[in-house]
Amino acid sequence: PRTSGIGPDGELTIGECSIPELVQRFGTPLYAFDERGLRETMREYREGLSARWPNSRVCFASKSLPCLAAYALAQEEGLSVDVAGEGELRLALAAGVDPERLVLHGNAKSRQEIDLALRVGVGLIVVDNLHDIALLSELATGTQDVLIRVIPEIDAQTNPAIATGGRTSKFGLPIDQAMALIDQLQDHPAIRVRGVHLHIGSQILETEPFAAAVRVLGELGEFETYNIGGGLGVNYSEDDAAPTIDAYLDAVTEAARQAIPAAAELIIEPGRSLVARSGVTVYRVRNVKQSNDLFVAVDGGMSDQLNIALTDDRFTAVMAERVELRPDTTAQLVGRQCESGDLLVDRARLHAPRAGDIVALGATGAYGFTFVNNYNGALHPPVIFCADGESREAVRRQTYEEFIAPHDRTGLPAHPHTF
Ligand code: LLP
Repeated sequence: PRTSGIGPDGELTIGECSIPELVQRFGTPLYAFDERGLRETMREYREGLSARWPNSRVCFASKSLPCLAAYALAQEEGLSVDVAGEGELRLALAAGVDPERLVLHGNAKSRQEIDLALRVGVGLIVVDNLHDIALLSELATGTQDVLIRVIPEIDAQTNPAIATGGRTSKFGLPIDQAMALIDQLQDHPAIRVRGVHLHIGSQILETEPFAAAVRVLGELGEFETYNIGGGLGVNYSEDDAAPTIDAYLDAVTEAARQAIPAAAELIIEPGRSLVARSGVTVYRVRNVKQSNDLFVAVDGGMSDQLNIALTDDRFTAVMAERVELRPDTTAQLVGRQCESGDLLVDRARLHAPRAGDIVALGATGAYGFTFVNNYNGALHPPVIFCADGESREAVRRQTYEEFIAPHDRTGLPAHPHTF
C-alpha cells in the first residue's frame, strides 16, 4: 500500500494528506490511516485467497481496528468480519455489516451476547467451551452454524503474550474433547457444526506455523469449513522480516491442498497484517532531555500504544516535517506516562529532534486504537481516515468533559474552580 509518501516540503504524507497539516487541523496525538491502503490490502487478501482457494473467506479481525469506518470498509470490500464480544458485534451492526458475514468469537461469551448474536442472525459462532453449547442449546430457536475451536498445540515463535496455540492456552478445547463434542452434536436440534477453528498467535514472522495449523485442522476430519485464524506479522523495525501476504497465502493454500477436502471452505482472520501498515500515530515532541541518556518525550505513549507494554513491540519513528533528512540523533523515544515501559522506540534514529516537532510512528495501524486508555488523564486520540488528499475524522478526540462525565459528583462542590 502507498500508505505514506513525502510531500513538496519534505513532509510525511498519508493518503496524500500532509501530516503537519493534519496536526494543525486535528491536534496531537492522532491516529491517521490511508483509506486506499486499507482497501488495497483488503483486496490483496481477498483476491489473493480466492484465486488460490475459490471457496474461501477473509474475515477482518476487527479487534485490530474497531472503528465503524473500518468495519464499513471491510463490508464494502467483500470481507467477512470477526467480532469478539458484544461491543464489537454492536460496532459491526452499527456499521451495516451483513450479520450473515459475522463470525462471533470469545472464550467467555455472555448469555446476552449469544442471545443478540442469535437474534440478529450471526453467520458463525465459534464455540470455545461447553458453556457456549449450553447457552446455545437454551437460547437457539432455529439452527445455528458453529465452528469448534481447538487447541492446536503449535508453539509459534512469537511473544508469549500473543501465542495462543500452545497446550495450556485458555482458548478452545483440546483435540480429544473437541472431537467428542463434535460427535455428541451430530443430532443436536439447534447446533450445526460446520467446521473447526484455531488461531496460533499474532505477529508471527514465518509461514511454516500457518501450514502446520492447516494440517492440524485437516487431521480432525472432513468438514465444510476450516478457519485458521489470523496471526501474520508485519515489519515494525528494520530487524523484522515478515512474510508477504502472497507468501502467506501460498503457504496456507498449499498446505490446504494436501490436508483438507478440495471443496471445503477456507477462512482466514487477519487483523494486524490487514491494517497495521496503513496507519501511523502522530505525536508532538514535548521536550528533549539529555540526562544519563538522551530522551525525546512526546505527548502520547502507553495511553495510545498500550501494545508496547503488552508485547514489547517497538516501532520506527520519523520526523514528520523533514522525513528525507538523514537522522543524526539516537534517542529513547518515550511517552508521557508514568511507567518506564512507556518506551515507543528503543534507540530511535531521528533528525535534530526539538520540542514542538512532529514525530510519526510507522505501521501502527493495528492494536493501537484498540487499547486506547486514559492513563494519566490522556484523552483518546482521534482516528483520521485520509484518501486522495481529503481527511475525515472517523473517530473524534475524546473531550475532558467526556473524560470526567462518568464520575459521580454528589457531595462535591458544584464549580470549585473556573479555568
Ligand atoms: N482471530 C482470532 C481468534 C484472534 O484471537 C486474533 C487476534 C486474530 C484472529 C487476529 O490476529 P492478527 O492477524 O491480528 O495477529 N495484544 C496483541 C495482539 C493480540 C491479538 C489477539 N488475537 C498486540 O498488541 O500485538
